[in-house]
Amino acid sequence: MDWKVQLFKLNFDEREIEAVAETLRSGWITMGQRTLDFEANFARELGEGAQCLAVANGTAALHLAVLALGIGPGDEVIVPALTFIADINVVSMAGATPVLADVTSLEDWSMDPADIERNITPRTKAILIVHYAGYACDMEAIQEICRRHNLPLIEDCAHAPGGAYKGRKLGTFGDVSAWSFFTNKNLSVGEGGMVVTRDSMLFQKCKNLRSHGMTVASFDRMAGRASTYDVVEPGLNYRLDEMRAALGLVQLDKLDESNRSRRALTEHYFTRLDKMPRLSIPFRYFDRGTPTWHIMPILLDVGMDRQKVIDGLRDAGVQSSVHYPAIQEFTAYRDCRGIVPRAIEISRRELTLPLYPTMTEAQVDYVCDALEHVIT
Ligand SMILES: Cc1ncc(COP(=O)(O)O)c(C=O)c1O
Repeated sequence: MDWKVQLFKLNFDEREIEAVAETLRSGWITMGQRTLDFEANFARELGEGAQCLAVANGTAALHLAVLALGIGPGDEVIVPALTFIADINVVSMAGATPVLADVTSLEDWSMDPADIERNITPRTKAILIVHYAGYACDMEAIQEICRRHNLPLIEDCAHAPGGAYKGRKLGTFGDVSAWSFFTNKNLSVGEGGMVVTRDSMLFQKCKNLRSHGMTVASFDRMAGRASTYDVVEPGLNYRLDEMRAALGLVQLDKLDESNRSRRALTEHYFTRLDKMPRLSIPFRYFDRGTPTWHIMPILLDVGMDRQKVIDGLRDAGVQSSVHYPAIQEFTAYRDCRGIVPRAIEISRRELTLPLYPTMTEAQVDYVCDALEHVIT
């Protein structure tokens, strides 16, 4: 399909190409120095004693978080109702039961602290939150619930690199936080992720699980630091490779500038969409901190035919998407626990418009003109 405006485009240039080429020329492509540098730079951005482990993707990061916290059969984990399915899948894959918590309102799509608390039972083992589109959840309220019920927090920061809640970096609230560097994320490497914690025991646990429970990595043996290894517990292979770490280093350098560009484009969208009938904009008056403007979601009015809008945009060459279908509409999760009418309502009426750092204001105007034409 030859789109006039794609949903997302990579913000890559010669720097990324050179970083990968240099890695290939170096003769070492599995987890090594570039991965260590990427982890160190990521930790520096987060501050506050963050310890970082680069992993194969965001789902692996979430899975390690769940496993490191000892979540398993018989446990329940409270998860967002409006999120990507990985948040729910990792809980199920650990043999535990996901319990959905609703969003706060049709304007504030972050997880509702009151509904989180309502779903806590004696079996609840953890709370998993997501900062949807990079807009911070109400962290004061959620931390207070975790404290009162003595529950660990997993923070899904897939949408949130560079974001903050009232001046404090997102990803520093969870006992473990998980990041995705999938293609369409604010920081893209294709497939990649990061696990972050400030707890040394959890860090060591995640580190063991990332690489077969082995005490020594190939890189250490190549560097002559060790010649044998032990396996201290069962583990997986969730390592990142050096090409992706090299991409991550460049993308991390570009992150602030990319997020600034997303912000300017989002504000331009706001000025255009504010004047448009038959839709509203979530997080329009967000005041909990600095978002990351990861995507541009809108809410179509009740009674509008979303498919017609999607088709009309497509006819004008504009790609759109939906973030996200309702969890309970998926075959595997038809019986998923949690009563979440607001999230279901949003899933039926949400539409995501194109947004990426190299997009132009003229392209935003083109999308808005096409949208206006379709809905009026
Ligand atoms: C909110 C959220 N959580 C988790 C993931 C999973 O990350 P990955 O695709 O890197 O496994 C994604 C996206 O892909 C996501 O959007």
